[in-house]
Amino acid sequence: MNLLLTPFLVLTGLLTANAQTIMPVETRNTAMVLEVDQKRDCRIAYLGERLENKTEYQRISSAKELANDYSGVLNSVYTASGSRNLVEPAITVTHADGNNSLDLRYVSHDLKKLDENVSELRVHLKDPVYNFEVTLHYKSYYNEDVVEQWSVIRHHERGNVILHKYASANLVMKAESYWLRQYYGDWAKEMQAEETQLTHGIKTLDSKLGTRANLFQPSVFMVSMNKPASEDEGNVLYGALEYSGNFRIDLELDHLNNLRIIAGINNYASPYSLKAGEAFVTPAFLYTLSGKGKGEASRQLHRWARNYKLLNGNGDRLTLLNNWEATYFDFNENKLSELLKDTKKLGVDLFLLDDGWFANKYPRNDDRAGLGDWKENKTKLPNGISSLVKEAKNNGVKFGIWIEPEMVNPKSELYEKHPNWVVKQPVREEYYFRNQLVLDLANPTVQDFVYGVVDDLFTKNPELAYIKWDCNAVIYNAHSSYLKNQSHFYIEYMRGLYRVLERIRAKYPKVPMMLCSGGGGRVDYAALQYFTEYWPSDNTDPLERIFMQWEYSYFFPALSSTNHVTDWGKQPIKFRTDVAMMGKLGFDIVVSKLPENDLKFCQEAISNYNDLKSIIWHGDQFRLSHPKESSVASMLYLDERKAEGVLFNYLVNNRYGERSRLPVKLKGLDPKKKYRLTEINLYPGTTSTLSTDISYSGDFLMKIGFNPDVNSGRTSVILKISEVK
Ligand code: GLA
Repeated sequence: MNLLLTPFLVLTGLLTANAQTIMPVETRNTAMVLEVDQKRDCRIAYLGERLENKTEYQRISSAKELANDYSGVLNSVYTASGSRNLVEPAITVTHADGNNSLDLRYVSHDLKKLDENVSELRVHLKDPVYNFEVTLHYKSYYNEDVVEQWSVIRHHERGNVILHKYASANLVMKAESYWLRQYYGDWAKEMQAEETQLTHGIKTLDSKLGTRANLFQPSVFMVSMNKPASEDEGNVLYGALEYSGNFRIDLELDHLNNLRIIAGINNYASPYSLKAGEAFVTPAFLYTLSGKGKGEASRQLHRWARNYKLLNGNGDRLTLLNNWEATYFDFNENKLSELLKDTKKLGVDLFLLDDGWFANKYPRNDDRAGLGDWKENKTKLPNGISSLVKEAKNNGVKFGIWIEPEMVNPKSELYEKHPNWVVKQPVREEYYFRNQLVLDLANPTVQDFVYGVVDDLFTKNPELAYIKWDCNAVIYNAHSSYLKNQSHFYIEYMRGLYRVLERIRAKYPKVPMMLCSGGGGRVDYAALQYFTEYWPSDNTDPLERIFMQWEYSYFFPALSSTNHVTDWGKQPIKFRTDVAMMGKLGFDIVVSKLPENDLKFCQEAISNYNDLKSIIWHGDQFRLSHPKESSVASMLYLDERKAEGVLFNYLVNNRYGERSRLPVKLKGLDPKKKYRLTEINLYPGTTSTLSTDISYSGDFLMKIGFNPDVNSGRTSVILKISEVK
C-alpha cells in the first residue's frame, strides 16, 4: 500500500490536552483508546466500554492506578524489544548492521471513514535511530463492535533486516482477574473447551503444524474480565487470528495485573529477512468486546462474518447428499447413478461426490495412492465427471465434487514426475500423515498446478455447482526445494495458498465451496473469505455434535457450519437430523436402505428445513440451556423482525429420569408480541405432547418460559415459533 496515494486524512495532534494525542478506536459499544505522550511513546490507555463524551478519553490515564511500570512502555501499542521493554514483545528485529534494538515512536496517524459503518485508523510509528517503521491498522466495524488489527512493517536500511517476531496485534486490558476460554482437539474431537483463570506469566495458544493448523488447537479464544462471563452477563473479549497457518497468541499477565495479548503468525522456525522497501503485511487479528456476556459477543461476530467476511455470508446455501460414508472409495457409475436418483428422492439440492473418483496408474481405491492425479479413474468413471454432471441435471439436482489439491501420495504419477514439488527434507526419510505429503505452495509453478486442478474441473464442467476442498495432512520435514531462504517457508506456503484461492475466486466468484481439513483442521476467517461453509468435524455423532457445534457457534455463524446426517452415533434418525438442521443441512447415508418411515421423516424434515432455513442461516442465535450445565440443551434462532423462530432442544444426559424439569426461558423476543409454538419434525406415527392452541406473550416466554417436554421418550424436540397477529 502506498501511503501517499491513499486519501486518508493525516492527523497529528487531534484532541490534544496535556501534550497528549488521543486516538480512540470506537464502535457502537466499545473503545480502544491509544494515547501518545510528549516523548511520542504510544500506549493503550483503555480497552472497554465506549465513553459518551470523547473528550474524557484523555482523562483515563490519570484516573488509573499509579504504579511503577519501570520501562514506561508496559502498555505499548506495539511492544518493541531490545530497548526499554521488559516483557513479551510484539516485534523483535536484527537490523542490517547487526544491532538488535528497536524503539518505535509515534509519527502521525490518519483516519478514514470507508463507509457509514467501517473506519480505518492507521498509526505510523518509527524508530528514532534506525530507518525502520511500523504502521498499525485498526479497521473498526461500528454496528458489529468488531475490530480487525494488523501491522505493516518496512525499513530503508542498507541491507536486509531480520524480523524475529512480527505480531499482528498487541492489546492491553486492565481488570481484577481474567478467565480464558480456549480450545484443543484432534481428529473427530474438535473444539473441546477449557476455561480457566489466567495466572501471572505467559499462556501461549499456538500451532506449528503448517497446514491443517487447527488440528490440535484453533486460534479462537475468549477472555472474560473480573469473573467468567455467562451467556448474558459479564465483560468478554473474543479474539481470533485470520490466518490458516502457524499462529501464536501470547496472553501475558504482568506484575501490575495488565493482560497483554500479542497475536500473530507463529515466529517458530520463521525469522523473516525483510528487504529494504519491502512491506511485510501481517494477517489481521480480530476482536469483539461485549459487556453483555458471551451470547451478545457471538451475535456481533456472526453479523460481522455474514456482512463482511464469509463468502456469500448473506446468501443461500445448498442442501446435499454426500457419498463419503455411504460408499467410501467403493463406487462406480452405476452406484452413483442410483445415488443421484436418491438425492432427488430425498429432496436435497445437490449430490456431492467425495474422495476416490480419480487416478489411473495408481487408482485412488484407498487413501494410500493416487492423490495428485486429478484425472477421472477410467474403471470407476469411464464416461468422466461430465456425464455425471449431465445425469445429475437430468435428475433435477446439482453436482459437486471433492478435491484435495494441496496434497500428494508418494504413490502417484504426480510424485514420480515432480518430486521437487513436494515438501520434504532432501536427505531425510519421508514421514507421512495419512499416507500423504504436502505440495510446495511456496513454488509458483505448484500454485499454477493447484489452481489448474480447480480451473480444469470448471472449464470442462461449467455446471459443476460445488467444491469440497480438503486438506488432510500437516507438514512434517518442512523444506521447499524452490525457496532460497527456508525460514520463509511456512509464510510463503500460506501466501501461495491465498494467491491460488484469490485466483479461483476472481474467476469463479460465487460457486459454493466447503472448507474441510480432515474435519475442522482449518476453520479460520482468512480461509472463510474464499469459502461459503466449513466442515466442523468428521465426528457426526449427533450427541458429540451438540457440544461441538455449540462451541463453534460462538465464533462462526450457523450457515457456515455444514452438518451431515450420518450413521455415527446410536441415536435415531430424528435426533440425527434435528441436530444437523442447526446449521447447513446435509446427508451422508444410504438412502435406499432407510426404512420407509425414516425416509418419510427425512423428506418431511427437509421440507421443514426449507421453510425455516432463512431463520437458521440469517437469524440471531440465542443459547438458552447449555449442554454442559444441564441435561437439556436448547438453542433458539430468531429472525431479525423477532416474528419467526425455531427452538432446538435435546436430552444430553441418559441417566434415569433425566428430562426438562423446568421451562426453558426464551430470549430475544419482543415482549409485546404474541407467539405460538408448534412442534415440527415429528417422526411418522407420533404426535406431539405439547398443546399448540395457546399463544404466549414474548414477555411470558422470556420470564416464565416454555417446557418442550424433553425426556427419554422425546430426546429431541424442535419447536417452530410464529408471531400471532
Ligand atoms: C477427510 C474428510 C472426509 C472425507 C475424507 C475423504 O477425512 O474430512 O469428510 O472427505 O477426507 O478421504
